[in-house]
Amino acid sequence: MPEAVPVIAVDGTAGSGKGTLARNLANELGWHYLDSGALYRAAGLAVLQADTDPDDGAACGGIAQAMQVEIETRPESIRILLDGTDVTTRVRAPEVGRVASRVSVHPEVRRALLDHQRAARRMPGLVADGRDMGTVVFPDACLKFHLIASLEVRARRRQHQLEEMGINARLNTLIDELNQRDLQDMRRGESPLVQAPDACLIDTSEQSIEEVHAKARACLPGILTPSDKGTHP
Ligand code: DC
Repeated sequence: MPEAVPVIAVDGTAGSGKGTLARNLANELGWHYLDSGALYRAAGLAVLQADTDPDDGAACGGIAQAMQVEIETRPESIRILLDGTDVTTRVRAPEVGRVASRVSVHPEVRRALLDHQRAARRMPGLVADGRDMGTVVFPDACLKFHLIASLEVRARRRQHQLEEMGINARLNTLIDELNQRDLQDMRRGESPLVQAPDACLIDTSEQSIEEVHAKARACLPGILTPSDKGTHP
């Protein structure tokens, strides 16, 4: 019964460090990891490739429903296949992020991706990161985190990530884009980014990856029994 599988939900804004925290927790616990943003990015890319209007909910929902996405997660890396093609690098492009945010406002798209996300709930447990993991997709998660960080810090992190991928981007442009994406993610009618009432809030602006991890780690003992610990597949 999937509900018996424990879930840790890590939600937050783009660049808040939620992906890093979620991946590290999953590795440490030997649990599965779901990068739900990768699914929305794949949907955004599929919409771009089909040359479809990202504001057309029915058309985008149809594309999200029909696309085949496989996400292969390893401790150190994640590989994303869209209809059999490796799009790991392509989905991280700023343009795809922008379209992903636009298509993710549509209830048709969110419904199409719901089963895919819930199917990731497998023993011994799942750490899921996104915008609505703790509020909509896994409201019964045993532990929920909501990560935030200042706009400038997040833009610097994104700039660094893009540099590593060989993409140069101006800080001010990234700040504007993140701001716009925050507003879009928080103001949409369907599954907006909001803090779940039972989520632990962590502001990562002034904290290292290790400090954030230690803070989250401190919440774990209360929810874990020894049998919850598994080995990563
Ligand atoms: O986490 P990310 O930046 O890769 O996500 C890309 C976009 O996907 C984000 O702007 C909003 C959308 N998204 C969503 O609506 N719900 C999620 N659970 C994850 C991502």
